[in-house]
Amino acid sequence: MKSVYLAASLIALSSVAKAETIAERGQYLVTTIGGCGNCHSPRQGELIGGTIIPGTELSGGAELDEDIGHLSMPNITPDADTGIGQWTNAQIVTALRDGRRPDGKILGPPMPISVYRNLSDNDASAIATYLLTMKPVKHAVPRSVYKISLPENYGPPVTHVDDPSRTDKVAYGGYLATFGHCVVCHTPAGKDQPSDMSRAFAGGRKLPNGSVSRNITSDPEDGLGKWTDEQIKVAITDGKRPDGTALNRIMAFDWYKGITPSDLDSIVAYLRTIPPQKTP
Ligand code: HEC
Ligand code: HEC
Repeated sequence: MKSVYLAASLIALSSVAKAETIAERGQYLVTTIGGCGNCHSPRQGELIGGTIIPGTELSGGAELDEDIGHLSMPNITPDADTGIGQWTNAQIVTALRDGRRPDGKILGPPMPISVYRNLSDNDASAIATYLLTMKPVKHAVPRSVYKISLPENYGPPVTHVDDPSRTDKVAYGGYLATFGHCVVCHTPAGKDQPSDMSRAFAGGRKLPNGSVSRNITSDPEDGLGKWTDEQIKVAITDGKRPDGTALNRIMAFDWYKGITPSDLDSIVAYLRTIPPQKTP
């Protein structure tokens, strides 16, 4: 009897431990699959791949000179003067899904608005909740200056997105991979478009610091078709290829390493369904 009782209370305990608060859900999304810090956290040393300075996470400051303009990563900690401390939860959700700031200005690249439009109401709000509970970091950062004209909007305002079902592994993996913006880096640039979506995930995109993304479609020669699930997971979370070579640190594996095993399974299940493509 005693052991049955013990087993039952252990089950009860573990289900209590698993109940995630809204802020915890937001923290998970921001600090793992979202990889927000890959752009928004200041670094010591190299702009890309340098070490994040502890205690300064998400306080912005990285600046890049690119063809499209002078890009500056904003402070998204809740500091009232230099961050987003005066924004409401709803205003942060609008910034994420519609790419619009409270002052009406549209956000530009590389903030991946096109993929954040798919975030569910609950997840977008959880992200905002977490950001507003972070320690404010005072760090004034200049705004980006674009040489291109930004779109007037990214589509009609997003009003409602349901939570994805977690029982359909491929669909949930697709939801997570979309949020993880794999497609933004792993799709080649189009002629007149930021991305050639007819070649989604085919790699070959030129990224800052001279790195070039790779083909992550299911193509057996150019893509991941012959990789085992485990090999794909190691690349995503540890930045190592099957031959042991290291991936360039622009790939967000320092964040992806926190993805839960079950979410990682879903992401791999989704990647397997991407039709094969040759690398451009
Ligand atoms: C690939 C780089 C990149 C990633 C990843 C990224 N951002 Fe951004 N983000 C930017 C840039 C650049 C801007 C500023 C764009 C501009 O100047 O118009 C921005 C702007 C913002 C703003 C508006 C801040 C302001 O003061 O205008 C918020 C809020 C924000 N990002 C939140 C997030 C969150 C949350 C995540 C992760 C879920 C994230 N970002 C991921 C690059 C990125
Ligand atoms: C910020 C850009 C960026 C994002 C976001 C990104 N990647 Fe990558 N990824 C790269 C680059 C660049 C490489 C190649 C690095 C190199 O060659 O050293 C790469 C390499 C890989 C590889 C190894 C492929 C090979 O043939 O060696 C895999 C697998 C991979 N990425 C999967 C993903 C998945 C899945 C996601 C989303 C969850 C993702 N990546 C998001 C930039 C990115």
